Amino acid sequence: MREIEVLIQAQYPLIYLVTFEEERAEEAIARIAQTKPQHHVFVWTVTHGMVEYGRTNAPTQHNTISPQAAIEWASRYKESGIFIFKDLHPFIDNAEVNRWLRDTVINFRGTQKTLILMSPIQNVPVELEKDIVMVEYPLPDMQELDEVLNQHLKVPFGKKRVTPETREKLLKAALGLTRDEADKVYRKADVVAGKLTESEVDIILSEKKQVIKRNGILEFLEFDETIEAVGGLSELKRWLTQRAGAFTERARQYGLPQPKGMLILGVPGCGKSLIAKTTARLWGLPLLRLDMGRVYDGSMVGRSEANLRNALRVAESISPAILFIDEVDKAFAGAAGSADADGGTSSRIFGSFLTWMQEKNSPVFVMATANRVEKLPSEFLRKGRFDEIFFVDLPTQDERTEVFRIHLAKRRKEIDRFDIEELGKACEGFSGAEIEQAIVAAMYEAFAQKREFTQFDILSALRSTMPISRTMMEQVTALREWARNRARPAATSFAEYLRAEF
Ligand SMILES: Nc1ncnc2c1ncn2[C@@H]1O[C@H](COP(=O)(O)OP(=O)(O)OP(=O)(O)O)[C@@H](O)[C@H]1O
Ligand SMILES: [Mg+2]
Repeated sequence: MREIEVLIQAQYPLIYLVTFEEERAEEAIARIAQTKPQHHVFVWTVTHGMVEYGRTNAPTQHNTISPQAAIEWASRYKESGIFIFKDLHPFIDNAEVNRWLRDTVINFRGTQKTLILMSPIQNVPVELEKDIVMVEYPLPDMQELDEVLNQHLKVPFGKKRVTPETREKLLKAALGLTRDEADKVYRKADVVAGKLTESEVDIILSEKKQVIKRNGILEFLEFDETIEAVGGLSELKRWLTQRAGAFTERARQYGLPQPKGMLILGVPGCGKSLIAKTTARLWGLPLLRLDMGRVYDGSMVGRSEANLRNALRVAESISPAILFIDEVDKAFAGAAGSADADGGTSSRIFGSFLTWMQEKNSPVFVMATANRVEKLPSEFLRKGRFDEIFFVDLPTQDERTEVFRIHLAKRRKEIDRFDIEELGKACEGFSGAEIEQAIVAAMYEAFAQKREFTQFDILSALRSTMPISRTMMEQVTALREWARNRARPAATSFAEYLRAEF
């Protein structure tokens, strides 16, 4: 809000405020107006026309239902004032409305008048691009949520007591929600449990998950597996473990910069998604999956950018958090090609994502995975974009043995009857996923014959599998070639292999 205040002070005639929270934003603007004598606030809607803010039963100003008339009215208004237009975006492409707005910009110059377009959807016609200042209204911070929480802690004579720690947990749990949503989840928790204590944090969190899910692009992932479930990739594991405390206050005081993000490239089925998901556990941060496919969803045509921005804003407000973008090569594939099949939407989205990554100060760690580099726009891979680009290669023999041990131990208590060394040797070129599949196939085979599965079952399952590394040899070789000089190997063994070669 400070930004809006400055803009009003500096006599910016036209401000576009992107928000879902009309009421909250309106109140904040009204508060700004109060500090300036003679500043009237008017609110326009297509249903009521122009009405003075805060006056009960205030009449509609003469004939101001149509947007053109309302803008004209505002520009003829003699005193200083703030004119909030709610949801003008469906009309803004109309030539007349558009022209009226441009005239207003000229008209308001040097006056104490400001026109604010308030809408959850960002729609700025090219003609107005240079005249409008965009402002994103942030979601409520801890302090503002505290006010909401206080309302719920009120009892007839005084207030329910909560310890500062409980209060902080209750507030943190609601971060990322709008004020109304926070109000609702606190009320629900209060109704369900009859109290608001630490044990209600889970109710609030699960409500928040629902709310975030509704936006359709972000998803809260819960993942039980720890980093021990990943075989091999020791270098990558070391890197991640080393940064486990990177988002703590202690790290800030020590002067460590916050990690920005990492890209994990590699052969399909070798554990990229797996390790990305276990990182949240390792670092003790919430894991948010950004579904880029949904950003471009046809049912939300023209809203892709707003969708993405919204999702990023929610992620920031929940931070510190991990933002997981799986298979980013598929998401941004369109941006790499020159053919603008989708009218440039994907390159625009890609651009705004890069800008966000560049400028973000909030502790949101971007964890992206990909297996086709040639599909990624080169800007994405530029040095400095990510803290590190890791390359996950096919597992070595030792790593394959480890993957066997992990997946057998997951399914049977007693695994001594397997010679896992032999198994590891027998599957050169197999990925972790293919190893897991061989175990599953062996189990099916034995189960159908009503017996326990054996070493032999696994070996014959391996023999009857053609690994991807062979069917897609060219791609795998090309990827390795590419990664050789540009990415850091996720397994030390590969690093040693490189060192040995040069
Ligand atoms: N290194 C590994 N250690 C243990 N399990 C593994 C490993 N690699 C793969 N797996 C098993 O295979 C499954 C699929 O792997 P994952 O989805 O992580 O592969 P990926 O590298 O993301 O592949 P893609 O490029 O196709 O997305 C995992 O859930 C896990 O069960
Ligand atoms: Mg994957």
